[in-house]
Amino acid sequence: MPNSMTPDHNDSANSSKHLWHGRFTEAPADSLMAFTASIGFDVRLWRDDIAGSTAHAEMLGATGVLPRVDVDAIVAALRQVESEFVAGSFVFVASDEDIHTAIERRVTEIAGPAGAKLHTARSRNDQVATALRLFAKRELTATARRTLALIDVLDRRADDAGEAYLPGYTHLQRAQPVLLSHHLRAHAWALVRDVDRLLDAVARLDVSPLGAGALAGTSLPIDPRESQKRLGFARVFANSLDAVSDRDFVAEGLFALAMVGLHLSRMGEEWVLWTTEEFGFASLSDRHATGSSMLPQKKNADIAELARGKAGRLVGNLTGLLTTMKGLPLAYNRDLQEDKEPFFDSLDQVNRGLDALAEMIAAASFNTDAMRVAADAPAAVATDIAEWLVARGMPFRQAHAKVGELVSRSLAGNTPLVDLVRADADLGADAAALFAPGVAVQRRASHGAAGPLAAVAQRDELRRTVAALVARLA
Ligand code: ARG
Repeated sequence: MPNSMTPDHNDSANSSKHLWHGRFTEAPADSLMAFTASIGFDVRLWRDDIAGSTAHAEMLGATGVLPRVDVDAIVAALRQVESEFVAGSFVFVASDEDIHTAIERRVTEIAGPAGAKLHTARSRNDQVATALRLFAKRELTATARRTLALIDVLDRRADDAGEAYLPGYTHLQRAQPVLLSHHLRAHAWALVRDVDRLLDAVARLDVSPLGAGALAGTSLPIDPRESQKRLGFARVFANSLDAVSDRDFVAEGLFALAMVGLHLSRMGEEWVLWTTEEFGFASLSDRHATGSSMLPQKKNADIAELARGKAGRLVGNLTGLLTTMKGLPLAYNRDLQEDKEPFFDSLDQVNRGLDALAEMIAAASFNTDAMRVAADAPAAVATDIAEWLVARGMPFRQAHAKVGELVSRSLAGNTPLVDLVRADADLGADAAALFAPGVAVQRRASHGAAGPLAAVAQRDELRRTVAALVARLA
C-alpha cells in the first residue's frame, strides 16, 4: 500500500481541525490520539462508511432537510472519495482519528459548504453502528461461502473414498470400523451447522441503526426508513438508545466464527494424528506441509497444527468483547470501539484457516491400507459378536459379559479371539465369519450409521441440506 493509505497516529502534528473544535480551545494531546484513534484498523470500513453516508445524504434530500443541490454535491464528493480509496490515493491527515472522521473531512474539502452539511441529524454513534453492520453482513456471508467450500471438499473426498474404512475411535481407542466417507462427512455436518449459524446471525443483525443520532434521535424531520431501504437493511431500529449501543451482533458473529474455528481445530488435531508415523493414515502434499530446519526427515502438518492453535485466539476475541460489553451503561461508550479489532481478526483467521484446510485436505492422500489393517483388528469385532448373540435371543447384557470374558481369555492365553469364538458352543463358525476383513463395517447399516448401506442416504441428505444453504445465500 502507498504511504497515503497507511494512517499512523504516532507521527503527531495536529494540523487540521477536529470534529468538535467549536467547544475546545486546544487541540487534542498526541497521547490522546495515540491511545484512542481507531483509524489504524477501522480504515477497513471505508466502503461501508461511504455507503452509509450516501444513503444518509439521499435521505436528507428525500425528506427536504437538505436541498437537492447540496445532496448532489455531497454524493459526488463521496464518489470521488471512493475512487481515491480504490486508487490508493486517499491522503490521511493527523486529525483523522477514525475512518468516519477522515471521510467527512475529505468530503468537506471537496464539496465545500455542502460537505459541512453531511453530518446533519447524524452522530458518529449511529454512523459507526451502520458501517459495522453493513460490513458484518457482507463478511459473515462471505465466511459462510468459504465454509461451504470446505464442506464441498470433504464431500468430494468422501465420494473418492468409496468403501475405504478406518477404525472409529472413542476415548482415542479403536472402537468400531467406520467408512472413511462417514468420518469425513461427520466434519461436514458440523460445518453445515456453522453455515446455518452464520446466516442466522446475518439475518438477526440486518437492522439499520441510521437515524438514531447520538442516542435520542433528532428534532429534524428525517426518515430512517428511507436510509434503511437505500442500504438494503431488512428492518429499521425501534429504539435509538438500543440502536447505538447494541453490539450483540458482533458478539454473535464472534461466537459463530469461534465455533467454525473450534471445528477446524478438531479436524486439525485428527490430521496431526493421521499424518504421524504411528497412525500413518494420510500424507500431505509437499505444498501443504513444512520441513524442519534441523531434522531433514521431518514433514510437519503446520496447517493442521495452527487450525488447532488458532482456536485459542478466536475464543479470546469472543470473551474479550463480551467482557468489554459487560456492565456498559446506555448508550454509546467509547469502550465499544473495542468491537472492531477482535472481529476483524476472527474473520481473517477463520477465512485463512478455511482456505488452507480446504486445500490441504483436497491435496492430501489417504493410506487406506493402513486404515484397513488398523480397523480389522479383531477387538473391533467384539460388539458385532455380542449383537450376533442378541439377534439369536440372548439378552444384550448377558451377550456383552460373555464376549467380554472371551476377550479377557484371549488376552490372558494369547489365543486369537476368533479361535475362541469358533470353539464356543453358543457361537461357532458363523459367528467366527464376522472376523473376516471388511465384514464388520458392512454390518453398520442402521439409520445414519457408519457402513455403506446407510452412506447413500446420508450423502443425499447432506447435499439437500447444502443446496438449501446455498439457496439462502443467493
Ligand atoms: N471510532 C469510534 C468507534 O469506533 C467512532 C465513534 C466515536 N464516537 C464518540 N462519541 N466518540 O466507536
